[in-house]
Amino acid sequence: MTAEESCTLAEKVPLFSELSKSDLTAICRVMFLREFEAGQTIVHEEDAQGQSFFVIVSGKVHVAATTAEGKQIILATLKKGDFFGEMTILDGEPRSASVAAAEHCSLFMLYRKSFLEILKRYPKIAIHILTEMSRRLRNANRQINTLSLMSVYGRIADLLLRLGRDHGKRVADLIIIPERPTHQQIAEMTGTTRETVTRVLSQLQKKRFISIDRRKIIILDEKKLYD
Ligand code: CMP
Repeated sequence: MTAEESCTLAEKVPLFSELSKSDLTAICRVMFLREFEAGQTIVHEEDAQGQSFFVIVSGKVHVAATTAEGKQIILATLKKGDFFGEMTILDGEPRSASVAAAEHCSLFMLYRKSFLEILKRYPKIAIHILTEMSRRLRNANRQINTLSLMSVYGRIADLLLRLGRDHGKRVADLIIIPERPTHQQIAEMTGTTRETVTRVLSQLQKKRFISIDRRKIIILDEKKLYD
């Protein structure tokens, strides 16, 4: 890919949206486009050698961590425009989580040195990254609360509302969550088993709070799900 083609993709990424054409061109010279197939691991948890930062150009990734009992939990799903890999570069610790492609992905990759130079040179990019890191910390605080205080039923309802807010489309009073996660993935996001997820989702459907088909989940009654 030429630097010009890279720039055409990069100008659509919110992280770079406030840069001038010449600044964007300079950044494109040090970014590489990488493709990953569904299921491929991009970043390995505990990898102490992690030296790269990634921005999602297309596709989705799952950020996952392993519990002390060896269970996988999905911490977040990141989509087009989101970034990852900044933590290891900033604090020098091993990777905090694994990141795997949930579907075919194209990513911009930056090496540590270029990433740090960009942060120093473009305060708007640094502020964008800090703002997103604050949002992730708030989400993490919320997850700690829901895991420790809420019943499984509440945790699953809370996750559906979160997916609706972050990935859903509002159509009149409905919220449509496209490309729904599997029951196993919902279990990994809420710290429970696949069987429990199946039971809770069928209760929520019977109450007409949600409806589910092969590809999507529709929140029919946001207020009742929230309560
Ligand atoms: P790093 O630790 O370098 O590698 C794994 C990346 O996953 C991490 O940087 C963050 O970019 C991302 N990550 C870790 N925890 C979360 C989280 N709770 N929510 C969203 N992204 C995360």
